[in-house]
Amino acid sequence: MTFVVTDNCIKCKYTDCVEVCPVDCFYEGPNFLVIHPDECIDCALCEPECPAVAIFSEDEIPSGMENFIELNAELADVWPNITEKKDPLPGAEEWDGKTGKIAELER
Ligand code: SF4
Ligand code: F3S
Repeated sequence: MTFVVTDNCIKCKYTDCVEVCPVDCFYEGPNFLVIHPDECIDCALCEPECPAVAIFSEDEIPSGMENFIELNAELADVWPNITEKKDPLPGAEEWDGKTGKIAELER
């Protein structure tokens, strides 16, 4: 079991999640974070920390976002690790809550 970062993180990237992860299993791209499924210990600490409500347990992924399970696994293998909080992306508040942001994903 793993937790998964989903659509609403894209173009927000608040990074509150990385501060609470006991195993440092977040990986950072230009405008999105992902969780490494082989490193996540399923502790659930990050889920309530995300202001964008973008983190879900693998078995509670909202309908239509199942593709983010595979996407987290794929990108966690190629993006660098992030362990400290940083400023959100410019415009994060405007993008928070928009749907279909997968179209904006930068790799
Ligand atoms: Fe890290 Fe726990 Fe969140 Fe997994 S559930 S990403 S181990 S904080
Ligand atoms: Fe993204 Fe939420 Fe973390 S917006 S960077 S999953 S705090």
